[in-house]
Amino acid sequence: MTIENEAGAAPERPSSDAASIAIDGPVASGKSAVGSRLARHLGYRLVDTGMMYRAITCLALDEGTDLHDEAALEALGATANIDIKPGPAGDPDAARVLVNGSDVTGRLRSPEVGEAVSLVSRVPGVRRAMVAIQREIANEGRVVMVGRDIGTVVLPDAPLKAYLDASAAERARRRHAELQAAGRTETLEVVGAELAMRDDIDSKRDASPLRPAHDALVIDTDKMTIQQVVDAILEAMSCS
Ligand code: DC
Repeated sequence: MTIENEAGAAPERPSSDAASIAIDGPVASGKSAVGSRLARHLGYRLVDTGMMYRAITCLALDEGTDLHDEAALEALGATANIDIKPGPAGDPDAARVLVNGSDVTGRLRSPEVGEAVSLVSRVPGVRRAMVAIQREIANEGRVVMVGRDIGTVVLPDAPLKAYLDASAAERARRRHAELQAAGRTETLEVVGAELAMRDDIDSKRDASPLRPAHDALVIDTDKMTIQQVVDAILEAMSCS
């Protein structure tokens, strides 16, 4: 199967898709929590690619880059040194993200970055740079990679691709609960509206829009616990 990248060029084949699991899905579909548990269970490395788009967004904000200037964002993506340092063994959630040597991990989930990241991640040149790094990491093998385009673009030959979905109402409820637990005060309505806006940008953008790979295991997680989703993926793995 040949999948073309955003620029229309055939991407270089990753050599070890074979040892990777691709997990995609919209905001608050549970993919990070499921990816983390799976990585722990299998002893694989967890790579949350959203952190990379958030990291490049931190850099753009720090440098005062115009978020509507695609050429400037592409140049930033091409020259930035983004380094994901895996957490200590057994703790896939403890990864640190460094941009040009600075640790930006603590800022990745800030409202400022959350508001800007969709504008940065829709730029084809930024995506090309991030995809190249993601494939390099996957080449090391035994990776659970989480994102929006992992099954469709980054690791199209991964033997197991899961696409997690849930209704907009359920995802808003989950994200609202998460924010409340973190001490934030946004109402459910505001969280739902932000989520709808991000869904819209992520799924309608030209470059690698969010969608399930044709051969992905699509899981509606609305009425499932995290462990039930993990079990469904492990069962699919054992059958493949
Ligand atoms: O999963 P997240 O909320 O941390 O993702 C942050 C942003 O990055 C979001 O706008 C979607 C985008 N993203 C993407 O376009 N491709 C990925 N592989 C991962 C995230």
